[in-house]
Parts: sequence; C-alpha cells; structure tokens
Amino acid sequence: MAEISKIKKRIKFFFNFKKNKNLISIFKRKKSIEEKYPNYIFKGNIESALIPFCAAFLGENDVKYFINVNNVTLIDLDKDKIEIMKNEKYNYKSDWNFIIGDCWIEMDKLIENNTFFDVVSVDCWTTQIEEMINLHFKNIYKIANKYVVLIYSKEFDEKYGLNKSKETIQAYIEKKYEFKVNLIDMIKRSNFKGGIYWLVFKK
Ligand SMILES: C[S@@+](CC[C@H](N)C(=O)[O-])C[C@H]1O[C@@H](n2cnc3c(N)ncnc32)[C@H](O)[C@@H]1O
Repeated sequence: MAEISKIKKRIKFFFNFKKNKNLISIFKRKKSIEEKYPNYIFKGNIESALIPFCAAFLGENDVKYFINVNNVTLIDLDKDKIEIMKNEKYNYKSDWNFIIGDCWIEMDKLIENNTFFDVVSVDCWTTQIEEMINLHFKNIYKIANKYVVLIYSKEFDEKYGLNKSKETIQAYIEKKYEFKVNLIDMIKRSNFKGGIYWLVFKK
C-alpha cells in the first residue's frame, strides 16, 4: 500500500511539474548561491521601498527582505511572475503596489510625480548592469531618500578598471554624473560570473 501511494505521489508531482518548476528553481538557487542582503539598512526606520526588477526568482534575492516594510512598490515586465508573487502564499503584503512595466519608464513617472522611497533596491540581470550604472544611476539615486542597494559585477568592474574598490567605484560614478555619492558597502553575494556584489549607498 505504501508503495502505491508513493507511486501516486510521483505521478502527481510529474503532472504538477510546470507548477512546481518555480519552487524547484528557487530551492536550487537558495542552495547554490550565497546571498547576503544588507539587512542593516532596516534598522534605520525604513517606511517605503522601490524594488524594480523584482520578479524572476519571485523576490528571493531582495523582495523577501522587505517583508516588514508597509509601503513597497515593485516593478517588472514579467506579468506571470508578478501574478505568482501576489498570491498570498508568498507572504508579500496584499496592499503592496505591483506595477507591470518597464522599470526605467516607470521610474521616470514616479520622479515626475514627486514619489520618493526610503530605499531603492535594484537587482537587474547582470547583462543590464552597465546600462543601469552608466545610464540610469542618476534617477535611481534621486528617487531614494535613505539607501540605494545595487547589483554589481566583477565583469563591469574589470571592464572599467575599478579594482573592486569602494573609493574607485564611487569616484567613477561621481565623475560620470557630476554629483557626490556615498558608497558605504560592497558585499559579495555570489560567485556567478566571477563575482556578484551588492553596493550599498547611504544618502
Ligand atoms: C535578476 S532578475 C530579478 C530577480 C528578483 N530580484 C528576484 O529576487 O526574484 C531581473 C528581472 O528584471 C526583469 N526586467 C528586465 N528588464 C526589465 C525592464 N526594463 N523593466 C522591468 N523589468 C525588467 C526581468 O523580468 C527579471 O524578472
């Protein structure tokens, strides 16, 4: 009897495979990468956050750390993943503001409407880091009241000869945008592509 019920479970799992695929990929991801989000930012009375690029892993890289923040706006192009994230089993708050759209366009609109957030946390694809830093950093920094947390890569660092040094990265950004920034931390979060980091800016 026990054997039959095991077989039934396996058949059920097989037919639910598509549904389970997300859970499996998240589980694998959890096991394969060492993630270190700068949780200390939440000690500073964080009331609002903007999380563009929120959806591919259902928030496993960043969104899940914001669970105690009431006013959170999340943006992504991936409608299906956003719908999954809204499902209550993910524990994200039902009154969070999920926007399906292009992050850069939506951020322009938020700035035009004078909508700012205590934290902005950006976890774009590694292939988008160059565009994010070289074209969009100004808006990202502007929209944040207290902290900016950004994905960063060894790949970008080597291309621009920044030596994985906070001082050099800060100087690169300040020269490009002609305003002062305050880069307080650089945390290695995985070995993917030789090294992926979180940069933390405090305003
Ligand atoms: C690295 S994944 C984000 C993972 C997410 N932080 C998580 O923990 O699940 C990058 C995400 O950016 C989204 N994306 C890429 N380009 C975008 C754009 N221009 N506007 C909005 N979302 C975009 C993708 O759909 C994908 O979900």
